[in-house]
Amino acid sequence: MSSSNSIDFSGRVAIVTGAGGGLGRQHALALAARGAKVVVNDLGGARDGSGGSVSAAQAVVDEIKAAGGEAIANGASVTDFEAVQAMVKQAVDAWGRVDILVNNAGILRDKSFAKMEIADFKLVVDVHLMGAVNCTKAVWALMNAQKYGRIVMTTSSSGLYGNFGQANYSAAKMALVGLMQTLALEGMRQNIRVNCLAPTAATAMTAGVLPPDALARLQPAYVSPGLVALVSEDAPTRAILLAGAGSFESAHVTMTQGVFIDGSGDTAAQVCARMNEITDRQGERVPSTGFEQYQLELSKAGFEVPLPH
Ligand SMILES: NC(=O)c1ccc[n+]([C@@H]2O[C@H](COP(=O)([O-])OP(=O)(O)OC[C@H]3O[C@@H](n4cnc5c(N)ncnc54)[C@H](O)[C@@H]3O)[C@@H](O)[C@H]2O)c1
Repeated sequence: MSSSNSIDFSGRVAIVTGAGGGLGRQHALALAARGAKVVVNDLGGARDGSGGSVSAAQAVVDEIKAAGGEAIANGASVTDFEAVQAMVKQAVDAWGRVDILVNNAGILRDKSFAKMEIADFKLVVDVHLMGAVNCTKAVWALMNAQKYGRIVMTTSSSGLYGNFGQANYSAAKMALVGLMQTLALEGMRQNIRVNCLAPTAATAMTAGVLPPDALARLQPAYVSPGLVALVSEDAPTRAILLAGAGSFESAHVTMTQGVFIDGSGDTAAQVCARMNEITDRQGERVPSTGFEQYQLELSKAGFEVPLPH
């Protein structure tokens, strides 16, 4: 369906959550413009997650249809697993399959951790993490059965690197990286590829956070080509793609070579004393699975252990 110089989603069915505005809308338009049939999901609430209406999603559907594309609106909250299952059924009833899932829906409840209520922490985790889990679980069996799937988790620099006042959001966004790491492994045999996208864009979410001239450079349309690449037939898997203002970068969770301490002295004191060596990035690697930590540590302790299959 695609070659190295043209990405064509004809015959593919995509679900984009939180696509009534901002990045999700732009992703939906980009996928539809390349031939995908798109379920445009949006709860249609406020930035803090309150309220709801399907009209935001419907407006994007109307836009796609006006441009000659195919789309249907869905107003489910990604936090409601039954409603999400019904959304997937809606896609399958209309078009027979789901090839692409873009987990994009999100809210903010920013406050310093000292002032943050537990309810605001839980809600943000529920929308970002459990919302992506619900949607992914709802398509997982059918993607396995059809031996094809492309899934994107929307992470954030807040999770990857931290951001003052966003402990809830950072935790949820980094949790999505962990979810991606394991699902990419579990999906590999059935040609299900799972990636993360960390966007920067001027949207409802970032209004007032950045100065107006910087926001003008951060149109969501600059991010969507990265999303398109991550859900294309030739997509990578287990990638963390950063995208914004026309730039693209990648992030990695790495492991340093570190040191082996034989335990004959005060090991804790040696860990402190040798922290520079432990954190030295010379020779660091991106492990292919978590098991590589066991393997490295046992090999430094004198045991050679093959990677399990
Ligand atoms: N804008 C940025 O710079 C930036 C940076 C990093 C990550 N992100 C992430 O990108 C994604 C899109 O954000 P955006 O900037 O376009 O913000 P946005 O507020 O414009 O879009 C988020 C959309 O999600 C919808 N939504 C919220 N809760 C929902 C729910 N429970 N079910 C279904 N839909 C729901 C909202 O109605 C809204 O339309 C989010 O996951 C966000 O965390 C954005």
